[in-house]
Amino acid sequence: MKAVTKAAADQAGAHLRLVSDRAAGNSASGIKLSGVSKTYRSRDGDVPSLRPLDFHINEGEFFVVVGPSGCGKSTLLKMISGLLPPTTGEILVEGEQVTKPHGNVGIVFQNALLLPWRNILSNVMLPIDMKKLPRDKFLPRAKELLKLVGLEGFEKKLPWQLSGGMQQRASICRALVHDPKIMLMDEPFGALDAMTREKMNVELMRIQRETGKTVLLITHSIPEAVFLADRVLVMTERPGAIAAIYDVPLPRPRSLDAMADPVFTELVQRIRKHFFTQSSLD
Ligand SMILES: Nc1ncnc2c1ncn2[C@@H]1O[C@H](COP(=O)(O)OP(=O)(O)OP(=O)(O)O)[C@@H](O)[C@H]1O
Ligand SMILES: [Mg+2]
Repeated sequence: MKAVTKAAADQAGAHLRLVSDRAAGNSASGIKLSGVSKTYRSRDGDVPSLRPLDFHINEGEFFVVVGPSGCGKSTLLKMISGLLPPTTGEILVEGEQVTKPHGNVGIVFQNALLLPWRNILSNVMLPIDMKKLPRDKFLPRAKELLKLVGLEGFEKKLPWQLSGGMQQRASICRALVHDPKIMLMDEPFGALDAMTREKMNVELMRIQRETGKTVLLITHSIPEAVFLADRVLVMTERPGAIAAIYDVPLPRPRSLDAMADPVFTELVQRIRKHFFTQSSLD
């Protein structure tokens, strides 16, 4: 893995170009998009939301997408999860074309979307109940995950009795409980305070490293993207396209100290340059 070359990076803001040096992996594993675009049809006319995208997320990779509000990030994630059909193109997950919601992914949406009538533990257990997996086997795991995100003691509470950030943490447990191979996360930490957010970043990296999961995470935060990712995909404004894909050559495991590394600060600066005309990213 090699850092972005200087010449390429200096031009990155000026051109739509790929600057990752990483070779495309085997298309029978991971996630592969070929010519995937989305135009929403509405009564007021068509809303082009994504221009055709081509990229491949390798198995076991931590892949982060960063882009301004409304550029189509959530749309992209919904299409990969099979909740929304693409207008053009093809998506392969583990070599299989995505045509409907598929089982082996854990999804964390932008809003927690907990079921209001189920307590926190039951909400976390939802994928187990839906898949009719043995409750006895997964209950200890659900409790362990809640403990991990600081929600021990809140198992019997209903969602409205928790803060927004706590609900979002519960939704992360729900996405992990059935131990999916692929995690799709749409701004999972957006509602958290800065300190909890950093803690969750470190935790998520640890989980990903220990389990070898493939993670696609969406964020508004450039520092968060660089801190977490093996590669960062930078999107343009709506209708979103790929502005660049950067390798993050920071060694793992990473602690919060990685944010003081010159490689980190330089890459954050470089990605920021893509957005210097707008203030929608932090
Ligand atoms: N159901 C829909 N019908 C029509 N247009 C939609 C629909 N959902 C999203 N859009 C439009 O598609 C574009 C992309 O939306 P999307 O939610 O994917 O953006 P996003 O990048 O996730 O934004 P944010 O960062 O604010 O969450 C937006 O301009 C939005 O108005
Ligand atoms: Mg979104």
